[in-house]
Amino acid sequence: MTPVTTPSPSRRAEGPSGTAEGPGPEEEQALQARFDAAVAAEERIEPRDWMPDAYRATLVRQIAQHAHSEIIGMQPEANWITRAPSLRRKAILMAKVQDEAGHGLYLYGAAETLGVSRQELLDKLHEGRQKYSSIFNYPTLTWADVGAIGWLVDGAAITNQVPLCRCSYGPYARAMVRICKEESFHQRQGYELLLALTRGTDAQRAMAQDAVDRWWWPSLMMFGPPDDESAHSARSMEWKIKRHSNDELRQRFVDICVPQAEALGLSLPDPDLRWNEERGHWDFGAIDWEEFRQVLKGNGPCNEQRLARRRAAHENGAWVREAAAAHAAKHAAGGPRRSATAPAARSRA
Ligand SMILES: [Fe+2]
Ligand SMILES: [Fe+2]
Repeated sequence: MTPVTTPSPSRRAEGPSGTAEGPGPEEEQALQARFDAAVAAEERIEPRDWMPDAYRATLVRQIAQHAHSEIIGMQPEANWITRAPSLRRKAILMAKVQDEAGHGLYLYGAAETLGVSRQELLDKLHEGRQKYSSIFNYPTLTWADVGAIGWLVDGAAITNQVPLCRCSYGPYARAMVRICKEESFHQRQGYELLLALTRGTDAQRAMAQDAVDRWWWPSLMMFGPPDDESAHSARSMEWKIKRHSNDELRQRFVDICVPQAEALGLSLPDPDLRWNEERGHWDFGAIDWEEFRQVLKGNGPCNEQRLARRRAAHENGAWVREAAAAHAAKHAAGGPRRSATAPAARSRA
């Protein structure tokens, strides 16, 4: 990794000959060449560097979708906080759900460095104009779903996100480093929860198996459409936003999960799952892409509920945002006048 912490002046858009309208065609060609060279040399592109409009737009779309997924993704598990079976489980789950809120905030922050506002992105989410991961439109029916989500959904997220730590856009790459550390804890807590259930009673083992049966296929869909149908993949790989194709990452995930399922004593709901000696990978069955398309279109089991709750949470939180803005404005205007009263308060203490 070659982090570039300060933007190289030669790659900035506002060069000495730059005008208010931006660079001319020749200068733009030179900027494009410098951008391409920086990406090829594994340097980071930073917010003040010149970048092609399409690169910026791709990043905004991807980071926004990622941020929305973190925030909407709090809901399926938050559903079980009040019903966690022990204080320990409740503390772990609360920490995990709070982490997801934090991930959303880092990512909205990263998107803001590209010149969009958080408000604009949230408006698009609430109006259904920007998407979030299809996985968060499935219901959490039992306590074992919390384990299956941690093991499979956070597990798939890590597989997807570890390569993003080397993404060419600096703020996104740096946000991912921290997020991946936390995702690793999420995956482990899910695995450990399922392990406790599979070592428990017959009813607990059956509950764990049922949850894995329901979450397995939607987890495989998290990697997105097959490579030959993935509209944005090739260009994202050229720009080094993405490092591996959807199908490569999906295969990596299956290869990781099969031995883990065995260790848990759970089966994966795929009769076509078998080791392929020649490929050195696990073969797996066909994914129901029609289900994926339907869920993305808004027809999943929980789409409406998830968006309605998100909108309500945003409206209910308006007073917090207003109070924070008023507090910031007060500080900007010289801060609260404490100097006269503070010593008196201290002497009384
Ligand atoms: Fe997350
Ligand atoms: Fe997570």
